[in-house]
Amino acid sequence: MKVIRDNKRLEEWVQAQKKMGRRIGFVPTMGALHEGHLTLIRTSKLKSDVTVCSIFVNPTQFNDAKDLEKYPRNVARDKTLLEGESVDLLYLPDVKAMYPSGTDAWEPIEFESLDEVLEGAFRPGHFQGVAQVVHRLLKLVRPDELYMGQKDFQQVAIIRRMLNLKNISVDLVVVPIVRELHGLAMSSRNERLSSIDRMRAAKLYEVLNYIKLGFEEGRALDEVLNEGRSMLDFPDFRLEYLEVCERTQLRSLTSWGKQYEMVALVACWVGEVRLIDNVLL
Ligand code: PAJ
Repeated sequence: MKVIRDNKRLEEWVQAQKKMGRRIGFVPTMGALHEGHLTLIRTSKLKSDVTVCSIFVNPTQFNDAKDLEKYPRNVARDKTLLEGESVDLLYLPDVKAMYPSGTDAWEPIEFESLDEVLEGAFRPGHFQGVAQVVHRLLKLVRPDELYMGQKDFQQVAIIRRMLNLKNISVDLVVVPIVRELHGLAMSSRNERLSSIDRMRAAKLYEVLNYIKLGFEEGRALDEVLNEGRSMLDFPDFRLEYLEVCERTQLRSLTSWGKQYEMVALVACWVGEVRLIDNVLL
């Protein structure tokens, strides 16, 4: 596996791949890799000719300095995992390589409230930071396919919108959520849960499935949501949202949508760790 930190060398590598007519698959990450990330990589290995993975803990998408500081980092272990998957290139920039003109030189994108609901309401500025870094990465890596996880449902919606608004031509491939044995969605943040909390956090997935069942049984949405919220009523759980939304603009619904597809989404603190999850309805 080639490891590149420098943009000039990355540009040369990308150029050479394009010349050989190879399709580039790209998996952007913030490291602390787990099976979720590796599933994205494996999907890229199957579909694309060469696979690029980036690891960059992007400061502009952290609205909370403590969260940025506590974000797990283990590049040595990540490299071994990526080598095991026969990744072709690991792009490992520092802040200067990623943002040579500083982080403020970004013209915010008008997402028409898509960046202000759900995650956006609790993490102001988060999605502008995500859009900024993914935009920059796409300009550098110039992939044919971009692989992202359904785990971050709203992030996918934001990136899809950005590709559209900025006329960036790349095939966005969304990979289903990879879960731990008890149902907890895999996340780099799970490392910070105690082993007991890791089991208890599976409750989030249970509640999402409870809502799905309520939908399938034709029960009233507000009733099912209220029951779901009370299922998460533990002293050391702090629920931020549990909503059912339509999938494009992520408007939250008060009754089941008949004419559009829906998704149930949750964000909840378990002790000191903030977790998100979703289930398609
Ligand atoms: P990160 O949290 O490292 O996730 C990288 C990619 O892995 C994202 O597309 C995410 O949705 C996917 N992923 C994470 N957990 C997953 C799981 N359990 N199942 C399937 N896919 C999963 O998301 C980011 O980094 C950043 O915001 C980034 C896009 C890299 C921009 O900085």
